[in-house]
Amino acid sequence: MSSNYTIQIYETCSQTIQNSIMKHWFEEWSDSFMKDNISTVEQTKLFYEKIANKLVPIFALVDGNELVGTIRPDYRYGYFSCLFVVPKYRNIGCGKKLIQFVEKEFLAHGIDISTLQCENKLVPYYIKNGYSPTNNPSNKAFDRFCNKKDITLFQKKV
Ligand SMILES: CC(C)(COP(=O)(O)OP(=O)(O)OC[C@H]1O[C@@H](n2cnc3c(N)ncnc32)[C@H](O)[C@@H]1OP(=O)(O)O)[C@@H](O)C(=O)NCCC(=O)NCCS
Repeated sequence: MSSNYTIQIYETCSQTIQNSIMKHWFEEWSDSFMKDNISTVEQTKLFYEKIANKLVPIFALVDGNELVGTIRPDYRYGYFSCLFVVPKYRNIGCGKKLIQFVEKEFLAHGIDISTLQCENKLVPYYIKNGYSPTNNPSNKAFDRFCNKKDITLFQKKV
């Protein structure tokens, strides 16, 4: 992985990168977007810009003017979502770099437990990154996820 990659916050990214983020998210998570009646990339962009929240920023890993990946830490709960790596950049450590970036961000915000939920097929990936499944999350905000059988909740002391 190139050391020239930079991490940028959504609002400071070029329009090209912003559009690329929304295009990839829309394609990857179309089922979730459909639940919110979002059926185009443009609607996805408007949706995220409307709910923009400094406590839940979008970070992009960028290579020149190309998107490499994204992650979205929630500083209220020490929770992250929207971990995504563009297919051509996969399996060279970019996902790990984004996870480690967010763990440092949590520590800087006084949070020492990092939490996420994922589909069962990604369980080995998060175990590899030091996370452990939990049915008893330290943060009660996550109780609602615990009984869903296709979702696993993970935590890691950072
Ligand atoms: C999951 C994802 C973020 C991984 O990113 P990545 O940059 O390719 O991963 P890394 O380079 O950090 O890690 C690569 C290692 O993880 C393993 N790995 C990657 N995806 C995996 C998966 N789905 N299940 C198990 N292991 C996986 C690779 O085999 C590789 O192992 P190695 O280090 O022993 O060679 C990426 O595949 C992705 O964006 N997927 C689609 C979106 C998604 O599912 N996001 C997660 C939402 S919770």
